[in-house]
Amino acid sequence: MEQDVHALTPDRFLEEVHSFEFWFLAVEGYLAHTTYGHGDDVADAPLAPADRERLITALCNYCVGELAALEGASGLIALAPTHRTKIFLSTQVVDEGRHLEVFLHRLRELGVADPAREIERRASGGLLQFKEHLRHLVERKDWEGALFAQNVILESLEFAVFQDHARTADPVTSDLLRRIIKDERRHIGFGENELGRWLLAAPGERRRLEIVRRELDRLVLGAVEDTARLLGATPDERERVGRTYLESVERLGLCS
Ligand SMILES: [Fe+2]
Ligand SMILES: [Fe+2]
Repeated sequence: MEQDVHALTPDRFLEEVHSFEFWFLAVEGYLAHTTYGHGDDVADAPLAPADRERLITALCNYCVGELAALEGASGLIALAPTHRTKIFLSTQVVDEGRHLEVFLHRLRELGVADPAREIERRASGGLLQFKEHLRHLVERKDWEGALFAQNVILESLEFAVFQDHARTADPVTSDLLRRIIKDERRHIGFGENELGRWLLAAPGERRRLEIVRRELDRLVLGAVEDTARLLGATPDERERVGRTYLESVERLGLCS
């Protein structure tokens, strides 16, 4: 569909950018001519054994995050208050399922015969706790709390970690991370927009998000610490990823 979305009324604009029509055009721009999420022309490079180990640990933890987002987004469809939000979340479910598939495929390319077992062995305790917490928010039918946990906190964490990793990863991993980040940006935009409009109408609710955030920050920073330790990152590197995460949540201005 060829049209200038910025010429639309605010309601029609949101309907347009959260639609499957928009999603098709967006993903076509960076997923055309790719195989399992990376460009057909990107050649794999051999990895030193220690680097391969570290990459496997990182990918296993990315799978936990993607699974949390996949299950979270699909559970949120039932809670979403409008057709538009249900439709956007169904595009997100497709994105998160694809991310999980891409990471699992990369694990197999690295010679991991049983990714599920490897994920169980290498998953960070903090990240697993976060996944549980998100599941509880969805089960409690807390639409705003769960959307905040998933589309702001978890997405901001993934954004910080993937961006950092893409700078130093091997060419194939770096290429697929850069493409996945584009989806995660869209997911953050949705959470920011929905929650931002909700807070404008009910400013007193900001306090609720602050409470969710305080609890989750602890788990997220624990997950960053765990994963960085498993990856053998220096204290400086761990601090940098934690700071990028905090800054990216701050920038959204949804809570202090
Ligand atoms: Fe994702
Ligand atoms: Fe996402």
